[in-house]
Amino acid sequence: VPVVVLVSGTGSLLQAILDASQDPAYGVRVVAVGADRAGTLGVERAEAAGIPTFVCQVADHATREEWDAALAEAVTAYEPQLVVSAGFLKLVGPAFLARFGGRYLNSHNALLPSFPGIHGPADALAYGVKVAGATLFVVDEGVDTGAIVAQVAVPVLDDDTVETLTERIKAAERPQLVEMLGRMAREGYAVEGRRVTIGTWRS
Ligand code: GRF
Repeated sequence: VPVVVLVSGTGSLLQAILDASQDPAYGVRVVAVGADRAGTLGVERAEAAGIPTFVCQVADHATREEWDAALAEAVTAYEPQLVVSAGFLKLVGPAFLARFGGRYLNSHNALLPSFPGIHGPADALAYGVKVAGATLFVVDEGVDTGAIVAQVAVPVLDDDTVETLTERIKAAERPQLVEMLGRMAREGYAVEGRRVTIGTWRS
């Protein structure tokens, strides 16, 4: 299944997908990697793996809507069946969702619906929760509000810092994303309301 991965940062989630996709039986072929900013390690990782990359920056477009439409165009050019946000820090808009709604997955570093937004681990630590984790979901128009595919929990330790908790979450987040993306690609899935069922081909 052809997949486009969107990144903003270091691309460690992307790397996990790239590693898994070395095996054709995994069922995922990363056909392109896109970023919303120049010079990300994520794009460098893709280039190192010989995968086409593109950058679509908000600042290069007159409006956020034009950026959204340009991003949708750029991704569409690679004809992916699924699009994965692997630490992509921009909220996509209506043009993108019109093309990829139901087929755009995001991995978030908190146990939704708690701690949406870009500071999940820091917010969890500040709140004092004892369990944190990561959520894979199908993106909708909200901020981290889409139908949940899978969640994985990790403990919050007494001596955690934002950095140590962030890393513990990512260590659980990577295998979850790799496993679930593979299953969704190989077995198909259906989204009915807030319920995501794997192993059912989407109609
Ligand atoms: C992930 O923890 C994701 O949930 C968060 O950013 C991290 C991505 O890291 N939004 P990387 O860029 O894949 O290393």
